[in-house]
Amino acid sequence: MIKRTHTCGQPRATDAGKTVALNGWVNTYRDQGRGLLFIDLRDRDGLCQVVFDLEQGHPDVVQAARALRREDVIGVRGTLRTRAGDPNPKLATGEVELVAEELEIFNKAENPPILPDEHDAEKIGEETRLKYRYIDLRRPRMQHILRTRSKVTKLARDYFAQNGFAEIETPLLIKSTPEGARDFIVPARLHPGMWYALPQSPQLFKQILMVAGFDRYIQVCKCLRDEDPRADRQAEFSQIDLEMSFVDREDVMAMMGGFARAVWQDVLGRDIGEIPRMTWQEAMDRFGIDRPDLRNPLEIRDVSDLVKASEFQVFQQALAKRRAGRDGCVKAIRVPGGAERLTRKMTDGYTEWVKQFRVGGVAVAKFTANGFDTGVAKHLEPFKDALVARLGLVPGDSVLIVADHWDAATKALGELRIRLGRDLGMVDEKDWRFLWVVDFPMFDWDDEGKRWVAMHHPFTSPNPDQFHLLEKDPGGCLSAGYDLVVNGSEIAGGSIRIHRMDVQEKVFKLIGLTQEDAELKFGFLLSALRHGAPPHGGIAFGLDRLVMHLVGTENIRDVIAFPKTQSGGDLMIDAPGPIDPQQVEDCGMRVTMIERA
Ligand code: AMO
Repeated sequence: MIKRTHTCGQPRATDAGKTVALNGWVNTYRDQGRGLLFIDLRDRDGLCQVVFDLEQGHPDVVQAARALRREDVIGVRGTLRTRAGDPNPKLATGEVELVAEELEIFNKAENPPILPDEHDAEKIGEETRLKYRYIDLRRPRMQHILRTRSKVTKLARDYFAQNGFAEIETPLLIKSTPEGARDFIVPARLHPGMWYALPQSPQLFKQILMVAGFDRYIQVCKCLRDEDPRADRQAEFSQIDLEMSFVDREDVMAMMGGFARAVWQDVLGRDIGEIPRMTWQEAMDRFGIDRPDLRNPLEIRDVSDLVKASEFQVFQQALAKRRAGRDGCVKAIRVPGGAERLTRKMTDGYTEWVKQFRVGGVAVAKFTANGFDTGVAKHLEPFKDALVARLGLVPGDSVLIVADHWDAATKALGELRIRLGRDLGMVDEKDWRFLWVVDFPMFDWDDEGKRWVAMHHPFTSPNPDQFHLLEKDPGGCLSAGYDLVVNGSEIAGGSIRIHRMDVQEKVFKLIGLTQEDAELKFGFLLSALRHGAPPHGGIAFGLDRLVMHLVGTENIRDVIAFPKTQSGGDLMIDAPGPIDPQQVEDCGMRVTMIERA
């Protein structure tokens, strides 16, 4: 076998005259005729031009080379020389070429259904790329992405090992303790009729590792949630999962902020500086979302108090609404220069578009030197000066108003703010804006179920000064949770946990778990909490999302070697698929399909 002396990206002019052997894939070939052929040979490291030239002798080698086609796997040995007169400045190896003296064809390749070519990748449907993932992954871009991913996990292991974290694996076959999403389930052959569940995260195990005295834990782990995949969501995804003992939220945020800083510094050479923080309430009020993109300069203002002076039915009806413990509201966004930049067609479009967020529409007016104009202008007159002052309006601006239930109006304006930022080109795509969001409410009120639900997960502790609210005012109780947000995406989420059994029981009760249920589902945790649980807290970074930011893609499938499609399928291995009935029977089961309408 011809064994390589260099990778394809390594040869340089200083190597000219040396005997060099390369291994790799035929990226392109050009048969010039009259016994002269060029190929670009590719491996993980780059490309190198190889020339087969009858004038240099070795007619059998030149003859064999004429049969080479794209993606054949070969070894070549020969003498490296500088390229006479035609260096290729686009290639790191562009000043040299290898004059082949020996050729070994390791494997011929079938005519490739796709080519590992950057230009082609955009044109080829993603389905084909996923089906032939082994070819798609040969693309330099995909190689770069997965190597960046590998760099991030190495950095994580190094950074946290230096800080005393031990890497510990937790089981994949556990019992069903839903954390919010649906569990993937696995029948237990040795216990017919019983089921394992695959973990949505190692949450409870990492807490128990703290009870076990490990103090600092890390795991790069798979999490499985049977929910519909989205652009930034997969049913099977990865976390860098962490937990620490004897800490408060400041300690956790400092440690994790340090990791984010190290990643951005090492991978992108960017100093992200100190990460600012904002309460959940402020984020919702100013940006209408709990993960605001701070690159977008637009802000939302509540004007409910001002519109009380208006007789406009839309405003009055909104103020009279009440849901989930909150009064209805009227909120507005100032769009600088909107009078010119927002066309009637755009604002009409927004009015229709926001209806998906269960609000009636958007009221729009322009602000000119002579006051409000067009749209709902006349309804703004009674409180014009106060509105101008509240929003900081200057002539030429527009104001967009949504009036409805607090949650619907907040969501609609939050989404509209994102859309406006994009439509008006107000977001600096090259910037990085990090943010810690803190002081989340402990609970959301579920109107339908008529009960509280944990906003993060039910193991999250109230803030140290809020414990007394658990009984008095659950809706007003803030949690010791924290989310790390970058450019509008949540890349990590965690909390200080409840470490006392009595508090944990109280929280279970509040979310409607009876004592029996709690024992059945989480008895092991309650028992652990009774046996000496230290104060502890942690976080999990979404590894896929982290890498999406670092490499600049909005498609989560780009950062996963073998991802699932939108409908949860793996097109390469053709999963999910049927199984042998015997396998089902071995589990003591038989499959009966339910007809679904
Ligand atoms: P959480 O559910 O917030 O917390 O997840 C932590 C981070 O994981 C990423 N993430 C996802 N990435 C891709 N696809 C998904 N379906 C998906 N879901 C979540 C996000 C998110 O910030 N046990 C807790 C962590 C803790 O409290 O320590 C947990 O899993 O980036």
